[in-house]
Amino acid sequence: MKLLVLTGAGVSADSGLATFRGSQGLWEGHRVEDVASPEGWRRDPSLVWRFYQMRRAALSTVQPNAAHLALAALEARCRQRGAEFRLVTQNVDDLHERAGSKPLHMHGELAWLRCERCGTRVRDLEHLDAECFVPCASCRAPRLRPDIVWFGEMVPSAEECLRLAAACTHFLAIGTSGAVYPAAGLIDVARRAGARVLVQSLDEPSNLAGVDEFHPGRAVEVVPVLCRALAQLLP
Ligand code: OAD
Repeated sequence: MKLLVLTGAGVSADSGLATFRGSQGLWEGHRVEDVASPEGWRRDPSLVWRFYQMRRAALSTVQPNAAHLALAALEARCRQRGAEFRLVTQNVDDLHERAGSKPLHMHGELAWLRCERCGTRVRDLEHLDAECFVPCASCRAPRLRPDIVWFGEMVPSAEECLRLAAACTHFLAIGTSGAVYPAAGLIDVARRAGARVLVQSLDEPSNLAGVDEFHPGRAVEVVPVLCRALAQLLP
């Protein structure tokens, strides 16, 4: 068994982090292109910095939920039984890590900052309340940017994720609306490779197909059940 799990904002919603496209959307009051694009950063770096500082500070107020924990337990179980398990997340929070998983973050991580000049990446949770920019300790550039993949930017792990999707036997998507590519295309790659496809979300994602097994509901309630069912399939 080769299991690939793709998570989106819905898996962290029950921990209290807002999803993107819900009515309480994180982007409320901000146009996406103002706060999540290289153009927005060039135009108004202070606004973008404050927006991400707010999101970074929110990390310390939330905890992993039953869905994060069930996925981490399934990963450990797969490892014990010699089955392959990979977790790819579009989320920039660190709740999967704090639950014990080792996710691949397609869209970057709030905990990290990056220097545009010299490329140095630093894990930084010290300056969460800093209104002013954090300079680069390596090259002295005046400000680090959030290490987030913004709209219009390349997704560095795209090829690796496509390879994982093409090779999996089971694909489980959780809490993602299927609206943002290339993540939204992984399900189709998995389907074409003949994988069994399970989808868990509150609302039907836009990329759901008739052959997929859809498990509606809240991630905290449904994901632990799905993980137990998948664990039963292990050799
Ligand atoms: P969205 O906000 O687009 O979708 C969240 C999904 O989670 C929806 O389908 C909801 O139905 C579902 N959902 C909400 N609450 C849930 C719950 N308690 N349990 C289960 N499902 C729930 O978020 P993503 O698909 O993750 O990109 O968005 C993809 C990307 O768009 C993000 O990574 C971000 C954003 O722009 C970047 O920042 C580059």
